[in-house]
Amino acid sequence: MIRAAITGVTSYVPKKVMTNFDLEKLVDTNDEWIVSRTGIRERHIAAEGEASSDMSVQAVEKLLKETGTKAEDIDAIIVATVTPDMLFPSTAALIQNKIGATKAWGYDLSGACSGFLFALKSGSSLVQTGHKKVIVVGVDTMSSILDYTDRNTCILFGDGAGAVLLEPTEDENYGIIDELLFVDGSGADALNMKAGGSRKPATHETVDAREHFIYQDGRSVFKRASMDMAQVSADILEKNGFTAEDVGIFIPHQANKRIIDVAARKAGFKDEQVLLNIDKYGNTTAATLPLGLDEVVREKRIKDGDLVLFAAFGAGYTWGSILLRYGPGKKG
Ligand code: ACO
Repeated sequence: MIRAAITGVTSYVPKKVMTNFDLEKLVDTNDEWIVSRTGIRERHIAAEGEASSDMSVQAVEKLLKETGTKAEDIDAIIVATVTPDMLFPSTAALIQNKIGATKAWGYDLSGACSGFLFALKSGSSLVQTGHKKVIVVGVDTMSSILDYTDRNTCILFGDGAGAVLLEPTEDENYGIIDELLFVDGSGADALNMKAGGSRKPATHETVDAREHFIYQDGRSVFKRASMDMAQVSADILEKNGFTAEDVGIFIPHQANKRIIDVAARKAGFKDEQVLLNIDKYGNTTAATLPLGLDEVVREKRIKDGDLVLFAAFGAGYTWGSILLRYGPGKKG
């Protein structure tokens, strides 16, 4: 059986850092509240005019270089994002053009904080049906939809991009082993951006009502995220005959340290098995998982053959987990 293996991972965050102390100057908040309630100390913010495709290109060009891949050999580019450069054309099309991936097709998908999982599953299916080189990007420029007068949301998010290369492996021990993915649209009212789509096209009124920014009912999202990330992580391990002890690294979506602590504890992980970098980046939405994978690979916290477990929860609601064995395995 052909499986999709992650054969390279890179990431990019903008240079500008916004600390909690910077936010103290914008809204009625303080470093102690933000650190104790979320675990976030700082986040990276895109430069003026720097959009999701720009950050993605930084990550993807590095990915091509590090994996020795020619842009013209890429078969497809899938981009998970809720902050595309524009509603259309897709960010994937913009990246394709900027990197010169002349033979690639591609598309964006909107899965919010679970978007990278959804895109990874899509990319894996393409590899299993004959594509040889698929790039999967998770990117969000959250600063472009944040209301910096709303302390409930503006402290939580940052900007960033991550990219992986998927290639076939015939080694049944390697690659993406399984996924559990869910959507429950009854959560749509708890986390959304109300205007700018076909329901409420942009008008002076929608701008005045600040409806082009993120709205979140933090407490409802918090409860569901803690429960569902723990459950889906435990379920995928049980389904595949593994326990938490078998996992090399657990990479949870970075929305709130307290959500991660609950999910990791309930699923049975020890602290050293859990990737935690929310202090440096905040919640970068679709980018948190590839940012996390890139970090553990560069810091050599995982080695070839280790089990990696991703889990995420986000707007929709969307949630899920993906289990994979890291490394190239034998080429398919
Ligand atoms: N600084 C100081 N006080 C604040 C701040 C702030 N930045 N933000 C809120 N508060 C206040 C509130 O106004 C409230 O005051 P009140 O009691 O006088 O009304 C008090 O702090 C407590 O507010 P809570 O909402 O109960 O705080 P909580 O501990 O729940 O933390 C948070 C809020 C951090 C938003 C949390 O609920 C959370 O992380 N939720 C989940 C986020 C998430 O997972 N999002 C999903 C992904 S996002 C995506 O998909 C795009």
